[in-house]
Amino acid sequence: MKKLIENREDVKLLVTTFYDKIRSDQEIGFFFNETITDWEEHLEKLTNFWEMNLFGTKNYTGNPIIAHNAVDKRFNHSITPNIFGIWLNLWFATLDELFEGENVDILKRRARKMQTFLYMNIFESRTKD
Ligand code: HEM
Repeated sequence: MKKLIENREDVKLLVTTFYDKIRSDQEIGFFFNETITDWEEHLEKLTNFWEMNLFGTKNYTGNPIIAHNAVDKRFNHSITPNIFGIWLNLWFATLDELFEGENVDILKRRARKMQTFLYMNIFESRTKD
């Protein structure tokens, strides 16, 4: 049975299952597999990020804009809206596979908003090279 997203443990399960899908994806897996060396640390960081997003905890300290502009640069500016679309589809699929309830919709909405924001910043950062 599907459950509600109620605490950090649920967020950790979401993040872990999502990155399993991401890592084995033919089209976008390599961005992650070639960049991230410490997966335990990455999963912890992303759990902090989404926990903050959902429950207001303050244990995430990174900067997603700087991180994604750097990834785009590292891969010769090859991140496209289609790549963000694949990411988002996997995020939605993981949420629907494991959970139900209001927080599922909130996390879908937040990721969709963030996608637009991150991509616009990537696009803008390319003009500064
Ligand atoms: C709405 C969509 C996305 C969200 C919400 C998101 C979120 C995040 C966050 C919060 C981080 C941690 C940043 C930090 O503090 O260092 C991160 C890292 C990363 N993201 Fe995304 N991301 C998204 C889409 C993508 C896409 C499409 C790609 C594929 C190119 C990508 C590739 C990466 C990589 C490789 C890292 C690790 C960067 C590093 O540690 O050097 N992300 N992402």
